[in-house]
Amino acid sequence: MEPTRERAWETLTRYTQSEALRRHGLAVEVSVRAYARKFGEDEEFWGMTALLHDFDWEIHPTLEQHPQDGAPILREEGYPEEMIEAILSHAEHLSMPRDTQLKKTLFACDELSGFIHACGLVRPDGIETLEPKSVKKKLKQPSFASGVNRNDVYSSAEALGVELDDHIRFVTDAMRPIAPELGLKGG
Ligand SMILES: [Fe+2]
Ligand SMILES: [Fe+2]
Repeated sequence: MEPTRERAWETLTRYTQSEALRRHGLAVEVSVRAYARKFGEDEEFWGMTALLHDFDWEIHPTLEQHPQDGAPILREEGYPEEMIEAILSHAEHLSMPRDTQLKKTLFACDELSGFIHACGLVRPDGIETLEPKSVKKKLKQPSFASGVNRNDVYSSAEALGVELDDHIRFVTDAMRPIAPELGLKGG
């Protein structure tokens, strides 16, 4: 089966009813796609991988299950092994090597896009004028979006080989055009 974006969206929305979780998929997708474009990689493939990375969280809401129990479902649906392996690698608890650019990019966009989203929710203009400086300030406030693992944010950017400032700017820029879809102002 040749996976398509349409099918990936269909898979995501079949298993995920939560608007927040769908938005998370979209935010990571748009960020990973932008990096694929920058690196001259396969935008469609990278984008679908990102869109599906948490597709099973709603049905498997513990680290005992997610994302490892989602993998057989994706396999059954005919998604390629390369995509499934990249999805599995985003989970810290599985300790899989992030030995491809796609794996590194997915990991680096996962937590950061969620954090940027959280920053946008408390600003009157969403992410429209959000700058790396204020994102970094919020990263230093442990009580703000406390579910986001700061260490993952820092280490994943480093593993991708990008400066944190540049990475924040890049992901914010990528998310801005779909801000309304993400429930944020701007765009
Ligand atoms: Fe996940
Ligand atoms: Fe995620």
